[in-house]
Amino acid sequence: MVRVFVTRALPIDPAALAPPGVTVSVSPHDRPLAADEIVAMAAEAEGIVSMLSDPFDAALLARLPRLRALSNYAVGVNNIDRAAAAARGIVVCNTPDVLTEATADLAWLLVLAVTRRFREAERVLRTGGYDGWSPTLLLGAGLAGRTIGLLGFGRIGRSVARRAAASGMRVLSTTRHPVDVDPALASPVDRETLFAASDVLSLHAPLTPETHHVVDAAALARMKRNAVLVNTSRGPLVDEAALVEALEARRIAGAGLDVFEHEPAVHPGLLGRDDVVLLPHVGSATEEARRAMAELALRGCFDALAGHEPPNRVQPDTVPALASGMRGREQ
Ligand code: DGY
Repeated sequence: MVRVFVTRALPIDPAALAPPGVTVSVSPHDRPLAADEIVAMAAEAEGIVSMLSDPFDAALLARLPRLRALSNYAVGVNNIDRAAAAARGIVVCNTPDVLTEATADLAWLLVLAVTRRFREAERVLRTGGYDGWSPTLLLGAGLAGRTIGLLGFGRIGRSVARRAAASGMRVLSTTRHPVDVDPALASPVDRETLFAASDVLSLHAPLTPETHHVVDAAALARMKRNAVLVNTSRGPLVDEAALVEALEARRIAGAGLDVFEHEPAVHPGLLGRDDVVLLPHVGSATEEARRAMAELALRGCFDALAGHEPPNRVQPDTVPALASGMRGREQ
């Protein structure tokens, strides 16, 4: 019998998808597991379905000698040391495509929520501060004719670009693969131009050593005073302390964040601000997306264990990007 271990309960029953000869067990704890717990529960497992909060670094992989397939229930794989996995011949999978529209929707929700002062408007109404319509009440910023900058132009970035174009925005993007940028959808620019020209800056890049703190004090200083930052990718792309400083000094106008540098902790300087909208990493959290992610992650794992090439296999990366800010924390 081939054993697969799932590190946290999924929105579907994994056992229902298991092919003959494969048995699946699921962690009984609905919380991130410590490395020792993973080792104890997955000692016999040849396949693991992991969460983005599980730091599968070289040390943990070394303690799982039977492991042959590691399938992440996320599109981002910065919690996995892919070089160490590749060296061991462990196939790594993720969940691309199925969460693209859900995540792009949420990024767009944040764009609108910040530019239209959603949090402040709701608070005013709920606390009895609404006396009736007024020509000057809670004026926000319109999107048509403004510029959105997309840092990263993969599936989710492109999907956000379509929403921005439908709102009449000019779209700029940076990408690791400039040739892939559809000129009808976005104009490729360098990072400096992106920071300086964007009214909305939305982050859609994976977390790597190169993108860690890509939005730092220097980047924030380059941005427009009316600019809004949106992050639905990974928290450590933003230097949160620098962001708080920039907001306090009114160097930028606001932020919409679904991910945090030290998740699940949130910088206290962000919590009380009306110009910031904060969500608990729910970019892909629709019933449809999360079920499809579960199916895809499980199928990748089962395929790999059966010796088939999984369609969602992640190619080994020579630069492992295990983010220290995420070890042992929910992302
Ligand atoms: C991912 O898939 O990487 C998201 O952060 C969670 O869906």
